[in-house]
Amino acid sequence: MKNPLAPQWLVAPADLNVIDARIWPRTAKRNSHGELTIGDVSVSALMRQYGSPLYVVDQEDFETTLLYIKRAFSDAANKIGTTAKLYYASKSLLTAEVVRWVIDAGLSVDVSTGGELAVALAAGAKGERLGLHGNNKSLVEIGKAIASDVAVIVIDSELEIERIAAVASAAGKTQAVRLRVNSGVHAHTHEHLATAREDQKFGVALSDVEELVGKIRSFSNLRFLGLHSHIGSQIFVVDGFVAAAERLLDVHAQLLKTGDVPELNLGGGFGIAYTEADKPLGIADMATRIMQAVAAKCSALGIAVPKLAFEPGRIISGPAGITLYSVGTIKDVTVSEQGMGATRKYVSVDGGMSDNARPALYQAEYSAMLASRVTSATPALVRVVGKHCESGDIVVRHDFLPSDIAVNDVLAVAATGAYCFSLSSNYNFLTRPAMVAVKGGKSSLLIRAETENDLLSRDAGISQGKA
Ligand SMILES: Cc1ncc(COP(=O)(O)O)c(C=O)c1O
Repeated sequence: MKNPLAPQWLVAPADLNVIDARIWPRTAKRNSHGELTIGDVSVSALMRQYGSPLYVVDQEDFETTLLYIKRAFSDAANKIGTTAKLYYASKSLLTAEVVRWVIDAGLSVDVSTGGELAVALAAGAKGERLGLHGNNKSLVEIGKAIASDVAVIVIDSELEIERIAAVASAAGKTQAVRLRVNSGVHAHTHEHLATAREDQKFGVALSDVEELVGKIRSFSNLRFLGLHSHIGSQIFVVDGFVAAAERLLDVHAQLLKTGDVPELNLGGGFGIAYTEADKPLGIADMATRIMQAVAAKCSALGIAVPKLAFEPGRIISGPAGITLYSVGTIKDVTVSEQGMGATRKYVSVDGGMSDNARPALYQAEYSAMLASRVTSATPALVRVVGKHCESGDIVVRHDFLPSDIAVNDVLAVAATGAYCFSLSSNYNFLTRPAMVAVKGGKSSLLIRAETENDLLSRDAGISQGKA
């Protein structure tokens, strides 16, 4: 009989040792000892060298996806007689080496703060391959972006028009800009991941666009590229993208009557599978359907298809990353509420909401696997939890793990490449884990692990050297 605490979508696998290729990185497999390997490096070797917990990025997976997505979008764009430029949304996962992978694959990089811009520049990215976002850019951030000759700045409010024009003018430069529009389309995703319903902070209202573009065009040192829309994140279906594109194109057509509008940027937000229940539309299909809808709308409006741009993040970085943890305390908790009388195994690991805030923030689901060995034990319904002082400190809300899971086993959590390191914190003064890239039997450090000294060094009440 199914454990009544298990959600409907969760099915106990026939073999807990099998690696589901839809969820785990491309190079994930088990070696002759039954251990999980990524990029042909075993989890025990990684943990020995870099400690636990550990973020691991499958470099081959990341690079393969970059090329696949670039090809999928440009093929779909070619079919409707245009081009599609891709900006990797670096907020999803950003390190200097990641920026180099993206640039080498021919994509551009979208940054949304001065800090993200600094990493991209430090990695060697040229301004011409960068775009700057942000709903509250400071003058310093705008100044740095313009000084670095970023290809485009996405204007998020009326106030920014004058600010960007003034900074560009002081620098004696002309800056290309887009205008982010709140299309009013409610994406089918978590409330906090939907970014285009009316009552939120991003972009300008559709009804204000013509006036604001008039204002942008009145500044000789601003070059208007077109409109921008980002409807949200972790979206599985195409209809929200299509609805947003159609709404923007209506205004785009009006704007063409008074000047150039060479481009249209439809943002990112393409969803990935975190569990076996997630069934996103393939990205090539998604790209084709969006472009076909764009072409149909342009033809109905009697306008030329603009150049297109997109900003995928999670779909590139998410599936390439996993997190390794060491298992600590294990408890069988009997839940007798609502006459259920069922047991859930709580498996505690040495990290938690400080290295993966998404379950607490978005009720996000993840999948876990015993990584250090194979077993023929029966499946037990588990909740993987962290070591923070919060009952919401959950890493994997619902999954099946072998019932013989034990202290010091290595647990791997899938699809943690996006928005885990990015959202990490020092809550409870946990040190943040290292991140490594693995490829072809070799590992290389992307981000070193924090030490307690890193934590102490920021506290002005602790004298240096005495800690
Ligand atoms: C403006 C913008 N573009 C792109 C993205 C990337 O979204 P995703 O990682 O879901 O593709 C985001 C994410 O928040 C965003 O705010």
